[in-house]
Amino acid sequence: MTLPLSAEALAQQAPDGIFIETVTSVTHYTDRLFRFRTTRPASFRFRSGEFAMIGLLAEGKPLYRAYSIASPSWAEELEFFSIKVPDGPLTSRLQMVRPGDGLLMRKKATGTLVLDALTPGRRLYMFSTGTGIAPFASLIRDPETYEKFDEVILTHTCREVAELKYGFDIVEEALGDPLVGEYAQGKLRHYATVTREDYAHTGRITDLMTSGKLHADLGVPPLDPAVDRGMICGSLAMLRDTRDLLLAAGLDEGSNATPGAFVTERAFAE
Ligand code: A2P
Repeated sequence: MTLPLSAEALAQQAPDGIFIETVTSVTHYTDRLFRFRTTRPASFRFRSGEFAMIGLLAEGKPLYRAYSIASPSWAEELEFFSIKVPDGPLTSRLQMVRPGDGLLMRKKATGTLVLDALTPGRRLYMFSTGTGIAPFASLIRDPETYEKFDEVILTHTCREVAELKYGFDIVEEALGDPLVGEYAQGKLRHYATVTREDYAHTGRITDLMTSGKLHADLGVPPLDPAVDRGMICGSLAMLRDTRDLLLAAGLDEGSNATPGAFVTERAFAE
């Protein structure tokens, strides 16, 4: 198997018209999850919450996957949060990157988990499972989120407690950030649950919404299409079930072309 190449070596072999960025840091959270940062091309623009196609050379050929950009649109570096799939064509290689290695990135970012795709509201729910938290890692560090909403509730559900750590790290970073901290303080709330271990909060977010426990724990009223907005990112099954609950509460699904009360996007999967 080809190992990741240094940025210089990759630049010599990569196709034209692609950004070649340098990995600047890597943090491994569990044997299934890691976070990494790269340099950002000066000409690369994106909206917080969007995804990009990133990749490596695999046996000499570029191999790309969609990755939510976890850093906010104003940040100097790009951040990504990834699963590691032992036999995954990309992640089996990507999990070996180290600072100085090169990463391929296509030049356009896109996506529906953007503030522009939501109609105005007061309370924004961000529902995530697993690596589906990545686009929200971007949005909770963007001051515009707090200019548009009075309350921002980030929910993150994983199988195990260790998988929640990245969420706690980015919430701490948002609250402590010199630029975003004063906006986020008093508005950003984090609700973390696990489904396969004991913890302070347990259960799928869909079950916690249906039983009313989520709202009771947070001390907020039931979903109301007049004030509540939502963004959903997780597995296909999680998207479907959470979407059904929001539709049942009277929220309509939006898109870039037609903003609505909530938007959805599938988390990266290999
Ligand atoms: P569970 O442990 O009950 O399957 P995965 O790693 O499979 O994507 O799961 C990440 C988290 O999402 C797990 O806590 C899992 O709970 C939860 N989950 C899986 N499917 C759904 C669903 N349809 N609705 C809500 N949560 C889900």
